Amino acid sequence: MRYPMRFWSRRSLRRIAFDRRLSRLVFVAAVFLLAFLRLRPSTSTPNPLSPPSKHARVTFRPSAFDWTTVSQRHPVKLVHSLPTDAPKPSRQVQHQFSDYTHDATSKKRQEAVRMAFFRCWNSYKKHAWLRDELAPVSGEGKTTFGGWAATLVDALDTLWIMGLHDDFYLAASAAAQIDWANTTETSANVFETTIRHLGGLLSAYDLSGEAALLQKATELGNMLYMAFDTPNRLPGFWLDFEDAKQGRQLAGTSDPSASPTSLSLEFTRLSQLTGDAKFYDAVSRVTDFLERTQNSSKLPGIWPKLINFREESVAEESGFTLGALADSLYEYLPKMDALLGGLYPRYEKMHRVAMDVVVENLLYRPMLPDTDPSDILFAGDVYAHPKSIDRNPEGQHLSCFTGGMFALGGRLFDIPKHVAIGERLARGCAWAYDAFPTGVMPEIFGVVPCDSIDKRCSWDEKLWDKEGDLRLRKGLSNARDCRYILRPEAIESIFILYRITGKEDLRDIAWRMFESIMRSTETELANSAIADVTVTGPTKKLDSMESFWLAETLKYFYLIFSPPDLISLDDYVLNTEAHPFRRPK
Ligand SMILES: *[C@@H]1O[C@H](CO)[C@@H](O)[C@H](O)[C@H]1NC(C)=O
Ligand SMILES: *[C@@H]1O[C@H](CO)[C@@H](O)[C@H](O)[C@H]1NC(C)=O
Repeated sequence: MRYPMRFWSRRSLRRIAFDRRLSRLVFVAAVFLLAFLRLRPSTSTPNPLSPPSKHARVTFRPSAFDWTTVSQRHPVKLVHSLPTDAPKPSRQVQHQFSDYTHDATSKKRQEAVRMAFFRCWNSYKKHAWLRDELAPVSGEGKTTFGGWAATLVDALDTLWIMGLHDDFYLAASAAAQIDWANTTETSANVFETTIRHLGGLLSAYDLSGEAALLQKATELGNMLYMAFDTPNRLPGFWLDFEDAKQGRQLAGTSDPSASPTSLSLEFTRLSQLTGDAKFYDAVSRVTDFLERTQNSSKLPGIWPKLINFREESVAEESGFTLGALADSLYEYLPKMDALLGGLYPRYEKMHRVAMDVVVENLLYRPMLPDTDPSDILFAGDVYAHPKSIDRNPEGQHLSCFTGGMFALGGRLFDIPKHVAIGERLARGCAWAYDAFPTGVMPEIFGVVPCDSIDKRCSWDEKLWDKEGDLRLRKGLSNARDCRYILRPEAIESIFILYRITGKEDLRDIAWRMFESIMRSTETELANSAIADVTVTGPTKKLDSMESFWLAETLKYFYLIFSPPDLISLDDYVLNTEAHPFRRPK
């Protein structure tokens, strides 16, 4: 059965037909304008929430292959449907910024971020248009995620938010023409394609209202939906196109726990926007699985970093973390509550149970000299053995998102203690930025931990001599992976904490981080991942700029210096690639 078109309102269908010719004109005009005139973005204050035109300007072109023509080997009766009740009145997430003024300093900082974005975007346009990534040193294009213009799709909503509307329409027109069947790959990474491409298209639609973007998202959703066609309806890590067509897919036996479990926001938003419950039904079954298994791991209450989804067992793996492999599993629990209007209590329940275990076992406070602030936290890893728990006091850039997660959950579910923990985690990552000569935090580093997170432990020089790395700042025991690859998680948490607490010093912290990142990563064309944040001289550039630099890192920097009603956390919930989805009212 073809996917029914009835979900496109008649009005938008007519609008699409009417505007086909018009939008071609607009497109050509935009190209001319861009080619000959626009070297800089307009300097007038952008007002991204009022779109410049009410008419559809983007034309949809269908892909060569229609995945709804492939029948499911393991079809389901839809058992989960979206809530029809009015959303619960939600607690206010953001701080009451009643006397906010957008002062000269914030304007200057906001504009500096916008210019940094625009420079990278222009280089992408010039050197890597429609490619997945720009190589920011050599100026080549790279294919890293199927060849479906990952950077372009990921950057759409940032273009909109920054008020770069001409470029938004140029990019959106290209995005609406992407052919998911045109790839040299034989499979797609389900998680990455969902958070980057599907998430990017959905938020670009949520912001602009361009129907073609929702059509393109639905087409991709139909392709990714095929990944759920396994005997137990849990998706594998890869969507192998041929296996999917032949109906021979299986869930993975040792997959990252975050991968099948953090598709929920994107699939839910797709159901909300199209009215087709099948996407939400698919991810709800993964949530059922999480609920069933929460207490049967080696550290009951949380899930390990690798899961046997085929046997539906979480009992084999001993490693637990909030960082790499597991991160967004946890991030999506409170965010799903927000997106579903608080109508399904299970997300809150799982979040509370898990966070109690996290506070008890995974957080640690570093031992630091008296001159350092001590009230900071990091989230580390643990290995659970039958009779003991091994703690690994390592900080990862990836786990810096936890500050924002604790704070957001604390606000949504009225747990003030968690807002405070979130702030300490966010400030921990900010401290780690300052602790390195470049002013940037590495991928992975270790500290010497205190016994308790509740009180300061006194500095022990002997212990540090023994366990520390004397080449690094006092308190640090290693910088095991000293790259910085333009990741967003630290500024993400600083941004969320700023919006939740209103504390102005967080903006100064953000500015310091931004200046340090720019200083150490800038290339002639754009910004690049660097090899080593511990150097004092020039940094070695790794010629890589992943799409999250434009989708997330620069978006969070821009938003923290913007008036707080721009993408208010009371109106939007952001997916793990920083794509804002509108919350139901
Ligand atoms: C397929 O994609 C490539 C870019 O990745 C593009 O150059 C080519 O024109 C596309 N082919 C079709 C048939 O759309
Ligand atoms: C897991 O255990 C916690 C308490 O230890 C309990 O509150 C919760 O209901 C349990 N979850 C399930 C799904 O049984």
